Amino acid sequence: MTDRYAVFGNPIAHSKSPRIHAAFAQQTGQDLSYEALLAPLDGFAAAVAEFQREGGRGANVTVPFKEQAFALAQRLSPRARAAGAVNTLKFEADGVFGDNTDGVGLVDDLTGNLGLALAGRRILLMGAGGAARGVVLPLLEQAPAELFIVNRTAAKAYELVAQASLPAGRPAAGATLTAGGYDDLSGSFDLVINATAASLAGDLPPLPAGLFAEGALAYDMMYGRDTPFLSFARAAGARCGDGLGMLVEQAAEAFCLWRGVRPATAPVIALLRAA
Ligand code: ATR
Repeated sequence: MTDRYAVFGNPIAHSKSPRIHAAFAQQTGQDLSYEALLAPLDGFAAAVAEFQREGGRGANVTVPFKEQAFALAQRLSPRARAAGAVNTLKFEADGVFGDNTDGVGLVDDLTGNLGLALAGRRILLMGAGGAARGVVLPLLEQAPAELFIVNRTAAKAYELVAQASLPAGRPAAGATLTAGGYDDLSGSFDLVINATAASLAGDLPPLPAGLFAEGALAYDMMYGRDTPFLSFARAAGARCGDGLGMLVEQAAEAFCLWRGVRPATAPVIALLRAA
């Protein structure tokens, strides 16, 4: 019998996840289906429970339900606990397992597809909401020289740093973890990641000149259109990356958790870029 998977979100109609997982299934010969399911804003847990009753084996979770998925899971991976959010659920005999593959998806895209080694680098992470929180620990595990979290509301960036040092037994491998507002930025960075919602609104966070080091990479978690941040970075001479690779890599990690098989991501990224 074909195993069922789904992604829950609201809105969900434009999700690329069904295409990605269909491509993974075809490539690896796995017998599964994957659909996009719209959950009512006040009915996420009920929608997941119904899908589980109907025989669903696992699910992805996207905006705005990742925190609710975290609360719903009976067991959590360390990275889900650190993120305070879950994007992948696996329905197991002994309960619902919650994982978060967003951070590792970003790191895999940066290090694998974009060829940027993160060890010893100076990284600037813009934003302190859910998108930023999900990637702090996986970035620190790459042992950068520094991870600076900058946010419009600086207090939220400080809070994120205070939380990030909490997970026991997961030292920051010597990385300096700092936070502040945009006025506190100084020096140049090898990698600047936009995890703010500014791109959605067509806004550019107030970035100083000289932000990008020689050969720096500017990465916007958003994809599908050029953003003010990427235009700014390109004009400053930086290399640019969008979030499409991260989307495919987080999906590959979820697929691997469910099926025990790791799909190749490059052909699927190419497929989506061509579409
Ligand atoms: P998400 O879950 O996508 O991270 P969020 O939790 O609403 O969404 O967080 C949005 C982030 O984008 C916040 O860091 C927000 O900054 P504030 O905490 O100061 O609100 C940031 N953000 C949104 N619009 C922005 C803008 N125009 N310039 C800079 N940062 C912006």
